[in-house]
Amino acid sequence: MPKVYVCRNWFTDILDRITPLHEMKVWEGEDSSPREVLLEEIRDIEGVISVASPIDAEIINAAPKLKIISSCSVGYDHIDVAEATRKGIPVGNTPDVLTETTADLTFSLLLASARRIVDGDIFTRQGKWRMHAHLDLLGVDVHHATLGIVGLGKIGTHVAKRAKAFNMRVLYYDAIRKIDIEGVLGVEYISDLHSLLSESDFISLNMNLTDQTRHMIGAHEFSVMKPTAILINASRGGVIDQKELYEALKSRQILRAALDVTEVEPIPPDDPLLSLDNLIITPHIGSCTIATRREMMGMAVDQLLAGLRGERIPHCVNPIVYDNL
Ligand code: DGY
Repeated sequence: MPKVYVCRNWFTDILDRITPLHEMKVWEGEDSSPREVLLEEIRDIEGVISVASPIDAEIINAAPKLKIISSCSVGYDHIDVAEATRKGIPVGNTPDVLTETTADLTFSLLLASARRIVDGDIFTRQGKWRMHAHLDLLGVDVHHATLGIVGLGKIGTHVAKRAKAFNMRVLYYDAIRKIDIEGVLGVEYISDLHSLLSESDFISLNMNLTDQTRHMIGAHEFSVMKPTAILINASRGGVIDQKELYEALKSRQILRAALDVTEVEPIPPDDPLLSLDNLIITPHIGSCTIATRREMMGMAVDQLLAGLRGERIPHCVNPIVYDNL
């Protein structure tokens, strides 16, 4: 039986669909399998499901029988797609099913940061709730404020929809203008990133991490933001220069930030960002609801099985591998 490796022990009822046809080994430890374990396990396997486990060139080259890499995520920056393509191995991802769930989380961060939900919870648990205690917890209004979205893709569009329901003015910057979405949602295109940053009360980063977007938000970008700006990032940590973010928050060049993602994940416990009181950080939970994660795992399993049958997988990030078939 062809062998399959799954990097995370999750939703075993879904993973059980693999076992009638394939010999499946699942990483039983906490979180996802460590790199050195995967490097060892991959030698003899034909299909792998990654749940955030990096699959780099060395791992791909250690797997002479590998036929399919199925990632339980929409993002695939943890996979060396170029190397997989060189080897003719299709890489699958799980788009669409997590779009609204991630938009919900993005908007939750925006609301929580604006209205100081985390501060209020800590304050209450610390027994500081007195009459007029709320004066210590003054937030900023979300309704009628201006939201600037960087990257009006699927998630960005759903963040815009939520913002319009809060009567926000919504601006967006994107490499490609989306005139159809502008008409439907009433969002405004700003062709210059810095103009969008300087006009916005809230900035939501919703672009993919690419060579072009890495550290797209750095010292200069913080310098043009309002001192009252709140920055939200639920895309990828690498789009922000994190050292510059620390400086901007520490010096109160901007008001607050809320992040679901960081450059290194998990964020090291001694990272200076964690010392700031004007920052909320969640541990990359954008798509983390039971229903959505089950759908993602179902898609990842379906694509793994299709790839092992030699079929063209429906959500392939390197379809060029099929060109010469
Ligand atoms: C993704 O699917 O890329 C999300 O970041 C969730 O992990």
